[in-house]
Amino acid sequence: MTDPAVPPGGSGPRVVVAGDAEQAAVVVARTIRAAVEVDPSCRLGLATGATPSPAYRLLVHELATTDLFVDVTAFLLDEYVGLPTGDPASYRATIRRELTDAIGVPAERVHAPVTTGDLEASCADYESLLGSGVDLQLLGIGRNGHLGFNEPGTPFEWTTHVVELSATTRSDNARFFASPDLVPTHAVTQGLATIGRARHLLLAATGAAKAPAVAAALEGPLDTACPASSLRLHPRVTVVLDRDAAGDLS
Ligand code: GLP
Repeated sequence: MTDPAVPPGGSGPRVVVAGDAEQAAVVVARTIRAAVEVDPSCRLGLATGATPSPAYRLLVHELATTDLFVDVTAFLLDEYVGLPTGDPASYRATIRRELTDAIGVPAERVHAPVTTGDLEASCADYESLLGSGVDLQLLGIGRNGHLGFNEPGTPFEWTTHVVELSATTRSDNARFFASPDLVPTHAVTQGLATIGRARHLLLAATGAAKAPAVAAALEGPLDTACPASSLRLHPRVTVVLDRDAAGDLS
């Protein structure tokens, strides 16, 4: 099946503007599903946050009774430091709850950075696990242009590393915690170079709050001030927006 959301290599980001967030989710879900239909044992990079949730719900709805994803290996972009194992706000617990358990990806093949013990060793281990990169990497974008937890100022060439979260990111993510004080101060994230090793990057953004970051990423300077501008260095990128998130594009 030919997927219109998949750009030919080397043509710069392909931007798909859907009417609303639900329609954007359809494009995202279809792109993920198509990747697995082409290669049932593919390596999928998954993202957490509110943006991918509608696409994950669609996949669960379509695939809960199939075994299409049973040979997939999933890798998360990032994980908080300091949450107890299994904490529902941890990204590993979130992705299992929202997607992978329901569509039959075995738990032992859902990988996230380990954020206990020696974090430097854990970063190196995660880089080795990711090896030459995933086949398809789903990405959200922070209001400040972050990818994963690569905050503004992060060099494009960094690999998996420990990060101190910015005040904007902690306050944006407080909605997933019982109180803002409970948002961890640190995380381990794939670096921009790690993300860039994926064969195909699929960035999703919905809502007007993301419009400035989307415009900075696609049309602003190629600069670490907007980590998502690094996407433009990648040969195969699809950006799926709703009309609101596309609102600041020229
Ligand atoms: C978090 C995640 C990012 C995600 C971002 C946007 O900070 N680490 O990977 O892209 O939030 O989240 P949301 O989709 O909820 O706006």
